[in-house]
Amino acid sequence: MEKEIVVSGIRPTGYLHLGNYFGAILNFIKMQEKYDCYFFVADLHSLTTHPEPKHLKESVYRVLAENIASGLDPEKATLYVQSQVPETAELYLLLNMLAYKGELEKVPTFKEKIRQHKENINAGLLTYPVLMAADILLHRAKKVPVGKDQQQHLEMARNFAARFNHRYGNLFPEAQGFNDGSEDLVKIGSLNGDGKMSKSQHESATLYLADSDVQIIKKIKKAKTDAGPQTPNTPKPDYIQNLFGLMSLVSAPEVIEQFEKNYQNCEIRYGDMKKQLGEDMVHFISPIRKRTDEILEDTAYLEKIIKQGSEKARESAAATVKEAKKLMGLYYQAP
Ligand code: ADP
Ligand code: TRP
Repeated sequence: MEKEIVVSGIRPTGYLHLGNYFGAILNFIKMQEKYDCYFFVADLHSLTTHPEPKHLKESVYRVLAENIASGLDPEKATLYVQSQVPETAELYLLLNMLAYKGELEKVPTFKEKIRQHKENINAGLLTYPVLMAADILLHRAKKVPVGKDQQQHLEMARNFAARFNHRYGNLFPEAQGFNDGSEDLVKIGSLNGDGKMSKSQHESATLYLADSDVQIIKKIKKAKTDAGPQTPNTPKPDYIQNLFGLMSLVSAPEVIEQFEKNYQNCEIRYGDMKKQLGEDMVHFISPIRKRTDEILEDTAYLEKIIKQGSEKARESAAATVKEAKKLMGLYYQAP
C-alpha cells in the first residue's frame, strides 16, 4: 500500500529549544517511519522580513543540523530547502490567481504583522498563505502536522485547492492538520514558571539544544521553586509540576518515583531534585549538541543532504506542476 504523504515546513529561526524538540521534532521523527514525509526549511517565507543573506544561510544550516542531530533521517524523510525547489514558486504564482485580496487581508496573522511592522507590509506578507498552500499542494499532501496557530492557513490551502479542482479539474486532495494520534502533544513550560518555553521567552528560562552543560545546569538551578509542600498530598503548583514534567522526559522512572514520594511526604528538597534533573538533562541534550556541531562543521555533508533532498522533492513537485499547467491550458507540446 502507498504510504500517505505528509508535508511540513520548518521556519529557519535557528537555535531550537526543548519545546520545539518535544512539541514538534519528536513528532516528525515518529512520522518518518510510517509516512512518505516531506519536511523542508521555509527560507522563502522568511524573506518577508528581509533577513541578512549571511544570517539566513546560517539559520537554515543550523535548523537543518539540529533537526538531523535530533533524529530526522534524510534517508527516511525527504528533507529539503524550499528555495531549492523552484516549482514551489511556480505553483505559488498559479495559485495566486485563485486567492482574493479580501480574504488575504482578513487573515489574523497578516493583521498581526501589520501591527508589528507597519513599515514593511509587502505583498509577500499578504500572500504568505498562498506560498504555504503551494508547499502543501506541491506534493499533494493529505496530512500536515502543524500547531493550532497554522490552522487558518491550512484552511486557506484547502480553499485554494477546492477552487482549483472546481475550475480546472480534480488535482489536489484535501489537506488536514494532524499530529499522528497524540492529540495532547506535550507543552514544555518555561523554567521561570511563566508560560511555555519559547524563543521569545527570557533566555534563562528556556533550554536550548545548543546550551552548554554549564548553562543547562545553571538554568535548572535557577528554575522557580518554593519552600515545598507543608501538608501531605498538596497539589503541585504549575512551576513544580513543570519540573516533574521535565524529569518525566529525561530521568529514569525510579528516580522520578523517589522525588514524587518525597513530594507527597513533604520531604522534597528542590536543590537535590534540580541537581538530578540538571545531570539528566545534560545527559540528554549534550549528545544532540555535539552531533549538531559535527554536522555544522561538515558543510559538504549539509550541501549533499540539501541537494539530495531537493532533487527528490523536485520529482514530486514537477509532476504536480506539470499536471496543474496542463489542466490550466498552459501546455503546448504534444505528449
Ligand atoms: P517559539 O514559540 O519558540 O517561537 P515556534 O512557534 O517556532 O516556537 O514553534 C515551532 C514548533 O515547536 C511548533 O510546532 C510548536 O507547537 C512547538 N513548540 C514551541 N514551543 C513549545 C513548547 N514550549 N512546548 C511544546 N511545543 C512547543
Ligand atoms: N507557516 C508555518 C509556520 O509558521 C511554516 C510553513 C510554511 C508550513 N509552509 C508550510 C507548515 C507548509 C506546514 C506546511 O510555522
